[in-house]
Amino acid sequence: MLAIAIATWPELALADPRSPFSPITPQATTIANLFWLILGIAGVIFVGVEGAIIYATVAYRERPGRTPAQFRGSPRLEIAWTAVPALILAVIFVLTVQAMNALAVPTGDPLEITVRGHQWWWEFDYSQNNFVTANEFHVPVGQPVILHLLSDNVIHSLWIPQINGKTDMIPGHERTMWFTPTRTGVFLGQCAEYCGVQHAWMNVRLVVQSEPDYAAWVRDQQQPAAPATGLAREGEQLFVTKTCVSCHAIAGTAAQGIAGPDLTHLGSRATIGAGVLTNTPENMARWLANPQEVKPGSLMPNLNLTSHEVSVLTAYMESLK
Ligand code: CUA
Repeated sequence: MLAIAIATWPELALADPRSPFSPITPQATTIANLFWLILGIAGVIFVGVEGAIIYATVAYRERPGRTPAQFRGSPRLEIAWTAVPALILAVIFVLTVQAMNALAVPTGDPLEITVRGHQWWWEFDYSQNNFVTANEFHVPVGQPVILHLLSDNVIHSLWIPQINGKTDMIPGHERTMWFTPTRTGVFLGQCAEYCGVQHAWMNVRLVVQSEPDYAAWVRDQQQPAAPATGLAREGEQLFVTKTCVSCHAIAGTAAQGIAGPDLTHLGSRATIGAGVLTNTPENMARWLANPQEVKPGSLMPNLNLTSHEVSVLTAYMESLK
């Protein structure tokens, strides 16, 4: 049964881009292997116990003229069914501790990223490279990465199943997550600790790139926003005069707010509102017109913009590549 499961799980798992059974790091592979091993042990026990119950039910069912054997206690059996489960649990305990230690081992010269959980979005601070981004982060393939996980509000939990296990982000207590991606691609995750009304829309995207592609991405992120022209220019002027600036930063402009996501390169991200909408001009306009209709409870208020204001701001946001 286990052999069949192992033979088919990659195909099953690849259907879901967030499957922990499709690991892309040694860390997630360690977790998946431990899972399959424990599932195998539990499977053998399940089949054995259920088989014994079914056998006993049939073989020793009530029959006329037959009296069940009468006895009381059996030290040998008592010891056996205490010792065997204890031994099995001890083996699982040792394997689990080994796996946990393997997950915590620093390797090589890591890329360090500080991740802050907010209600309800993710902030990625590449302080080594002097830029900040939100909800989508990139790393180079093959290099160890350490994430420093922080929160200044409630408890969140970062879970990108293909890279490592879920790790809580606890206010006032830094935690870390290591991973070394072994292949390129886009890997999805989400907040795995209930953190308020929009917990379900606290999605995260990890983009693993080749070394040159990653270097190019970093160079782009380090640039201030390109000067806006035309409609986008009008949008920029509106942006810095509206309440937008009290929450958002756009490098190269007067906007330096830190309460909301940094928008310097918003136009290059795949989604809006931590995954709630794909990033298209139509969706951007819908989001700006009434964020509370799209993501009720989010801290982005309805600014009651006119349709002209929405269209110039949309042009500006989409120009922030
Ligand atoms: Cu953040 Cu749930």
